[in-house]
Amino acid sequence: MKKMNLKEEVQKRRTFAIISHPDAGKTTITEQLLLFSGAIRQAGTVKGKKTGQYAKSDWMDIEKKRGISVTSSVMEVDYDGHQVNIVDTPGHEDFSEDTYRTLMAVDAAVMVIDSAKGIEPQTKKLFQVCAMRGIPIFTFMNKLDRDGREPMDLVAELEDILGIDAYPMNWPIGMGKSLEGIYDIYNQRIELNHPEAEDPFLALDESGDLAQSHPIQSSIFYEEALENVQLLQEAGNDFDKEAILNGKLTPVFFGSALTGFGVQTFLDSFVDFAPAPGPVETQDGEVVSPLDPEMSGFIFKIQANMDPRHRDRIAFVRICSGSFEEGMTVKLARNDKKLKLNNTTRFMADSRENASEAVAGDIIGLYDTGNFQIGDSIYAGSQKVQFKPLPQFTPELFMKVTPKNVMKQKSFHKGVEQLVQEGAIQLYKTWFTEEYILGAVGHLQFEVFEDRLKNEYNSEVIMSSMGSKTARWIDEDDLDPNMSSSRNLLCKDRYGQPVFLFENNFAERWFQDKYPDVELKSLL
Ligand code: G4P
Repeated sequence: MKKMNLKEEVQKRRTFAIISHPDAGKTTITEQLLLFSGAIRQAGTVKGKKTGQYAKSDWMDIEKKRGISVTSSVMEVDYDGHQVNIVDTPGHEDFSEDTYRTLMAVDAAVMVIDSAKGIEPQTKKLFQVCAMRGIPIFTFMNKLDRDGREPMDLVAELEDILGIDAYPMNWPIGMGKSLEGIYDIYNQRIELNHPEAEDPFLALDESGDLAQSHPIQSSIFYEEALENVQLLQEAGNDFDKEAILNGKLTPVFFGSALTGFGVQTFLDSFVDFAPAPGPVETQDGEVVSPLDPEMSGFIFKIQANMDPRHRDRIAFVRICSGSFEEGMTVKLARNDKKLKLNNTTRFMADSRENASEAVAGDIIGLYDTGNFQIGDSIYAGSQKVQFKPLPQFTPELFMKVTPKNVMKQKSFHKGVEQLVQEGAIQLYKTWFTEEYILGAVGHLQFEVFEDRLKNEYNSEVIMSSMGSKTARWIDEDDLDPNMSSSRNLLCKDRYGQPVFLFENNFAERWFQDKYPDVELKSLL
């Protein structure tokens, strides 16, 4: 691919994840995007609820095969001249470190909030990871076709609970059955909620009222929206594109993913404002430009057993620079091993195609026979590229694990070691007795661990839950072995660093009161 062409292609990319609490409407809004882009023709096909059919997206195939979604997968969609790459962030019981790590591979996030519920716990956790990266976050207040909370409260919550400034791009005129439209502050127009109307847009004049008279002007909801918009203009935040791009200000859109109202307006603004792929930092503090013609990328996820007939694994690569071509040779930065990249996958919304070509910003799947680990960098040029390591996340759930058959210690240890290295789960050992403890952010990680150990390493295990704990690291210099008790169990992490597993916040506070000079540290 020539340089000019590479630039054009990269500029078109919009790589993002949807962060939301389960049931807020992530799937429904994804489906609307597929509808608008022409990738599917009928709503309801993604989950197969209405037609019994599935959109041929990759993650649905896996759901079908395994009965659960075990993957943060990817969909590429053409939308309005852009190539939109959506990376899925599984929730519910599928929540895992992969969900967090996926956020390391995107350039922006769409935060979908159920307007009847406001900010829910999973949204908050995912938001914090995005905020740590400083990526832009676009908020969609969903389910406007139902009665929800006061829009002003919802916006205030963004600032109060998440600590991010908000700028409403539009404002609802009514809600639920009385939803008449939105007052589109950004585009200076009213968008009527009349699906049958040929042109739902009414222009506003400079005073902020309708340029031409319309029956909606006599509605109390219109009146109310007008007042609120004035209030926002006087007392609210100013529109600031720079602040949006830095993740300091979130543009807020209201709408209904189910009826599609306001979705296109949102998507149009999103592809307009969301950034194209930017530079990525290396371990040495340098940056790699996406337009650097030499291909480089990092692995943020490894998916095992995507196809139960083969014991294959797919390593998901975020391309950070240049263009990728099928069959190209790259080096693995960790061990300088040369690898020829054959059998690669791109994740088109309507098929799982062979990746013949992809550019910075894209995500491809590499068939893996055990070469890759999560966080690995690959590069095609002569200069070594090693991206910054992916962060580790503080696990919240813990399980003790032992092999079922004591004669099979060897395969047990090998399996545990490899899965931990791969990043599938975290390993701790009790400080004194070196019992194995697994740590995870979601239950699915334990299930996958157990399953893989059995299938790939022929090792059956006994797992006993320790429930949720608060993990806090301390400096080795501060360590006094007498500090350990049943309510604050002293362990070591896989690098041998001391870490306490506190039974609850109370136990942590008690410890901190007793040892005020000991600093307790968490991962992300
Ligand atoms: P998720 O992926 O974030 O978990 O949410 P999903 O899109 O599956 O939506 C969860 C439920 O909320 C779905 O109902 C969906 O139809 C509904 N929903 C999504 N967006 C809207 C909206 O804008 N308005 C309304 N009224 N509902 C919306 P469901 O799975 O059909 O639940 P059920 O009704 O079958 O129990």
